[in-house]
Order: sequence, then C-alpha cells, then structure tokens
Amino acid sequence: MEASPLMSIIQERRSVRTFDPDRDVEQEKLEIMLEAARLAPSSNNTQPWHFVVVRNPDVRKKLSAAAPAGLATNKWMAKAPVIIVCCVQPALLEHRAIGQLMDKQWYVMDVAIAVEHMVLAAQEQGLGTCWLGWIDERKVRRAVGAPRDVRIAALLPVGYPKNGKWPPAKKRKPMQEVVSWDKFGYSQ
Ligand SMILES: Cc1cc2nc3c(=O)[nH]c(=O)nc-3n(C[C@H](O)[C@H](O)[C@H](O)COP(=O)(O)O)c2cc1C
Repeated sequence: MEASPLMSIIQERRSVRTFDPDRDVEQEKLEIMLEAARLAPSSNNTQPWHFVVVRNPDVRKKLSAAAPAGLATNKWMAKAPVIIVCCVQPALLEHRAIGQLMDKQWYVMDVAIAVEHMVLAAQEQGLGTCWLGWIDERKVRRAVGAPRDVRIAALLPVGYPKNGKWPPAKKRKPMQEVVSWDKFGYSQ
C-alpha cells in the first residue's frame, strides 16, 4: 500500500546536522512551521510554549556555544541559518493548578508535541531540523533574554541539508518489541 502524505513525511524525516550555508530559509516556510506548533494540542489547552526564532548570526553563535560545561556538543548548529529556541513556561500550568494534578509533567509533553509538529511541517517543506536537548538552559536563556522561570525544552536548527543530502535512516526497534495488544508484554 502506498504511504499517505503524512506517513511519507514521517518516514522521510531525519535529524539533519549539516546545512547548506548559502541557502536561507524562506520566511513563509518558517511561518507554516510556527503555525503547526501553535495549533498543537496541550493539557487543558494551556499552550505553555513560546518560540524564539533566531536568524541573527551573533545570537546563533552564542546558542551553538551553549553546551553544558565541559562538553563541546552541538557546535555545528551555528551553520544552520535559523535556530528556533523552544521555550515553555511551567508556571503557566501551576497557575491553573493542573500542573499539580496527577504525577505528570504536563508542560514537557505539551511542548514536545508542538516541537514535533514543527519538525514535521519543516520536513514537508524540504527543510531539515534536529531536536537538540544537550544544552545549558542558563546559557540559552541569556542568549535570547528569556526570564528565569522559562524552561528551554529544545533548540531546533532549521535549514536545507548540505548538498541536498539527507542522512540515512537510523534503526528502529521492531514493531513486536514496542507494541502489544490487549495485555502488556514483550513478544518473543
Ligand atoms: C529529546 C531529544 C533530544 C535530542 N538531543 C540531541 C542533541 O542534543 N544533539 C543531537 O545531535 N541530537 C539530538 N537528538 C536527536 C537524536 O539523536 C535523533 O533523533 C536519534 O538519534 C534518531 O535519529 P533520527 O532523528 O535521524 O531518526 C535529540 C532527540 C530528541 C528527541
């Protein structure tokens, strides 16, 4: 059976870490990504996210140096023409008392869904992204002037893959290892 348009996007998505330095990202494409994030579902419809779209090269350089102390990870992101700083405000949820309901970090789930909406909207438009979580949140907050109560869920570099090349697919666990029906269990 032929994959649906959504399934094709999901199948083709890769984490892209090398970008075409001479090809900028069109503003309209970014706006489609941001609209996809804005429409994401969230617990109690709290929409606790905020996205800072960074094109400024000086700020991008600061972000690319925002690895945790002693680690030199993710420096490559400076070459992405755009980096989206994906912020979330846990206090918003607490304010509505829902953050304390059940033992769940709702805001983490909320922002993760919104970011993935953006990732898929980028993929659909031929743009590569890579979710980056290995970051020192304080350094990121400083780079974009975010207040202290804001958590940084991810940095999302966006751009066209270098030489039009998409990385190979990474292995996934087989279906029977991650799914069971009617009763929890691992198939042999
Ligand atoms: C929550 C999260 C955090 C991640 N953090 C990083 C990171 O800091 N640096 C990086 O290079 N990749 C990061 N990745 C990308 C993963 O390494 C990647 O998704 C995984 O290896 C599967 O590869 P694929 O996305 O190409 O399918 C992260 C992904 C997720 C979902």
